[in-house]
Amino acid sequence: RRLSYVLGIETSCDDTGIAIVDTAGRVRANVLESQQEFHTRYGGIIPPRAQDLHRARIESTYQRCLAEAQLQPEELAAIAVTTRPGLPMSLLVGLRFARHLTRRLQKPLLPVHHMEAHALQARMEHPKEIRFPFLCLLASGGHCQLAVVHGPGRLALLGQTLDDAPGEAFDKIGRRLRLHILPEYRLWNGGRAIEHAALLASNPLAYEFPLPLAQQRNCNFSFAGIKNNSFRAIKTREREELTPPDGVISNYGDFCAGLLRAVSRHLMHRTQRAIEYCLLPNVRLFGDAPPTLIMSGGVANNDVIYANIAHLAAQYGCRSFRPSKRYCSDNGVMIAWHGVEQLMQDKEGSLRFDYDHIDIQ
Ligand code: KG4
Ligand code: ZN
Repeated sequence: RRLSYVLGIETSCDDTGIAIVDTAGRVRANVLESQQEFHTRYGGIIPPRAQDLHRARIESTYQRCLAEAQLQPEELAAIAVTTRPGLPMSLLVGLRFARHLTRRLQKPLLPVHHMEAHALQARMEHPKEIRFPFLCLLASGGHCQLAVVHGPGRLALLGQTLDDAPGEAFDKIGRRLRLHILPEYRLWNGGRAIEHAALLASNPLAYEFPLPLAQQRNCNFSFAGIKNNSFRAIKTREREELTPPDGVISNYGDFCAGLLRAVSRHLMHRTQRAIEYCLLPNVRLFGDAPPTLIMSGGVANNDVIYANIAHLAAQYGCRSFRPSKRYCSDNGVMIAWHGVEQLMQDKEGSLRFDYDHIDIQ
């Protein structure tokens, strides 16, 4: 079969990502413009500023992407763009740019659900091993869910977070710990800084957090308790050791190790329920075979958390995968790959050209 190329545009949050992936799953170009440096200064994302930055950068990101792939725009088979979920102002920049491109080139516009793109990404690198359906643990800065994935647009949700997302909790706790004032963590997100700081622990068992939703027999998540307990523990420690108001507690490594263990345990506990549910005799979602488990989203970057999840899955005979680290966090590749998956599912060639009906939602 002839190779086609799909361009993917991601602007749902604070990264302007544009990439080109071919239908064999090879990445032809991947350009990512992060706004992290800018937002770090303000302690968080300010939507109108994020929108301005996307606007200022999207055209040059696109041009760099074409140059890197050594392709002419006419050679693209389709344009895929994140339409939800995300910051509406940011999403609009990507969608408007995608509409403008598809009108000019007369190519199909493929709307992409951001979380679905995270879920499907691992298939790009492991197409033979990961067949539909599979079980997916999605953990990012905005979401936490367990789902059975049957194909693009076909996810059955088993559970989701009732409050914060784990990445969001890491980011807020990292900020409260003031890890960003340490030069080595200045431009890192909270999750990455906490993972690294935990390696410095001298007493990794010093902090212990209760397991959230321990009594609930479902697949939902809750990270607000861990977050609030963390804030309290940090405050107590600051009082004990008279930490200056702009300083970091001295045993922050121990704290981060405890936090990481708490988040890991909660993710494992819920994933275990999901696996057991799939294996119930009256459910048997995957026939006699154990489900394949994918972990994805920014939190899947975390080696400790992923190792724990993979270990748990192995106890049930499940194989587990995650995308390569450069594709776990937000990027244009996962959007382009979702577009490729849509093209491959589109047996009747019924892809939409009526761009105006595609909107952010
Ligand atoms: O998927 P993603 O790039 O964006 C969203 O869709 O939210 O995820 C970003 C989140 C951030 O909250 C960040 O703290 C978390 O992923 N993250 C990590 C690590 N790297 C990024 N969390 C734990 N450990 C990491 N190494
Ligand atoms: Zn994401």
